Amino acid sequence: MKLQRLLPLAILATTSVLAAPSSLFEDAQQVVLGGAEAKFKGIANQYLSEAKQAILKGKKELQTWYHDGKEFIKQNNLLYELVRHPAFSSYSLRVTEPKLCDSAVKQMSGYLDVADDKHLFFWFFESRTAPADAPLILWLNGGPGCSSSTGLLFELGPCSIAEEGRNVTYNPHSWTNNANIIFLDQPVNVGFSYADGSTTVNSSPVAGKDVYAFLELFLKRYPKYSTQPFHIAAESYGGTYAPNFASVIHKANKELKLRPDDSLKHINLDSVILGNGQTDPYIQYASIPDYVCEGPYAVYDPESPQCQSMRTKVPTCQRLVKSCYNFNSKFACLPAILYCNSQLMGPIVQSGRNPYDARRPCDRSKDGDLCYKQMTWIENWLNDPKVKTTLGVDPEREFASCNMEVNQAFVANGDGAHNSAALLPDLVNDGVRLLVYAGNADMMCNFIGNERWLDALETKFSEEFRKTKGVPWVTLSGGNVAGKVRSAGSNSFTAGNVTFVEVYEAGHMVPYDQPEAALDLINRWIMDVPLSVQDVAAEAASIPPL
Ligand SMILES: *[C@@H]1O[C@H](CO)[C@@H](O)[C@H](O)[C@H]1NC(C)=O
Ligand SMILES: *[C@@H]1O[C@H](CO)[C@@H](O)[C@H](O)[C@H]1NC(C)=O
Repeated sequence: MKLQRLLPLAILATTSVLAAPSSLFEDAQQVVLGGAEAKFKGIANQYLSEAKQAILKGKKELQTWYHDGKEFIKQNNLLYELVRHPAFSSYSLRVTEPKLCDSAVKQMSGYLDVADDKHLFFWFFESRTAPADAPLILWLNGGPGCSSSTGLLFELGPCSIAEEGRNVTYNPHSWTNNANIIFLDQPVNVGFSYADGSTTVNSSPVAGKDVYAFLELFLKRYPKYSTQPFHIAAESYGGTYAPNFASVIHKANKELKLRPDDSLKHINLDSVILGNGQTDPYIQYASIPDYVCEGPYAVYDPESPQCQSMRTKVPTCQRLVKSCYNFNSKFACLPAILYCNSQLMGPIVQSGRNPYDARRPCDRSKDGDLCYKQMTWIENWLNDPKVKTTLGVDPEREFASCNMEVNQAFVANGDGAHNSAALLPDLVNDGVRLLVYAGNADMMCNFIGNERWLDALETKFSEEFRKTKGVPWVTLSGGNVAGKVRSAGSNSFTAGNVTFVEVYEAGHMVPYDQPEAALDLINRWIMDVPLSVQDVAAEAASIPPL
């Protein structure tokens, strides 16, 4: 970081300045939410524990010092541990240890600082069970431009937003029950992430480089989480991000094998998990009329003018997307996005239904632009200065669930018309597992299109996958038929190398609509045990009684 290189690196004799607890972050901060005082200037101090205030007293902004072999920094009146990496000289991590949301588990939050102007916010939670033996999941929401706090506080995190954002409640179905999870706000200017200058990121491949550096720094500092399998899980536009990011990680792993470098960690990329993702636009846009006119929650009559008109738009949309696939340039990709979004996604938005859940109406004046009032609650909670201070976020930074400027920048670049599915065969053929799941009430990234692109994906497993028929997915705890599963590469004792799950009675945000089933799905997937026990039962039946 340029700023830090210009600054004196004060190495202080330790204990005398620190009449503090053994861990610099042992705050035990109880968050009392007082929305009213939200607009103070330079208010971090007010909300810091006395221990932290004592440590920071007399220190200059951006001053760094050492304590217990760790480097610390003061920035925006907040205290962070500073983590550097010899192989990534233009990156560093600023970390604090909050006790929010689920105070029973270890947490880290803070920023990846990229060069001197990009800052990516993350919040990590340890697994509620056996963290040292639990896998690590990186969770990404989509947008583009939307914060992963939606996943954290509305879907699968350890706490759920409640009481209009005045409080959060414990989530018994958190995916952290059996996994360590990082929630990352990316790219810059999304959620709590920010840029100092006018820097923007508007393409998934560029965003991927920063995510890779983030993981290397994180795992260097916390090697405990590097020994178990790593999964990248993403929703919605994350279906475009995740294959790109996984591909960067996979290439770096291969490079590392050829040219070993002790300073870099092999990232145990075990699987890519896509939930109601947008991944192969050529196939997925074309599925929209099929879904909204003939799907399980059709919103238009198949003979209606809307359906007839939408169907006539498919060939042009596909021709434009194809030319983006072929020419891979903004000039080919932007028209594709503009045409397909307005002509095929437009009618979804105009249907008066919730685009993310065809079963529900959406009144934007009451439910907000995103059709879920909880998105506003999340903004209320995360904009509380005490919450920000606890997370290591400058209390003057304003949080928004989605940043529409970032969204527009990705659109203007045509990013969403690229075929991210094309990146997956290399991964799958090298043993990285792929799970695609989709709530069947979602209109934006419907399950029909998701199943079709997975059927079309050319991998070692395609032939087998195309032959598989859907079998019921029955949850282990409730015994409910929660959906339908198709799997290839499974030997009846594994979850498969290529697996598709249609989730019943769930919209775009599956863990919100079906929390128990979603937890069953993720647990079985990360433990690599079958999602359908039918095969196992059949196999058991073939063994004669003893
Ligand atoms: C928030 O909820 C917790 C229990 O879930 C409760 O103990 C606490 O008092 C609540 N805080 C506020 C400010 O309502
Ligand atoms: C399929 O997945 C299993 C893990 O369940 C893995 O061990 C195996 O290598 C994968 N198969 C191929 C051909 O990559």
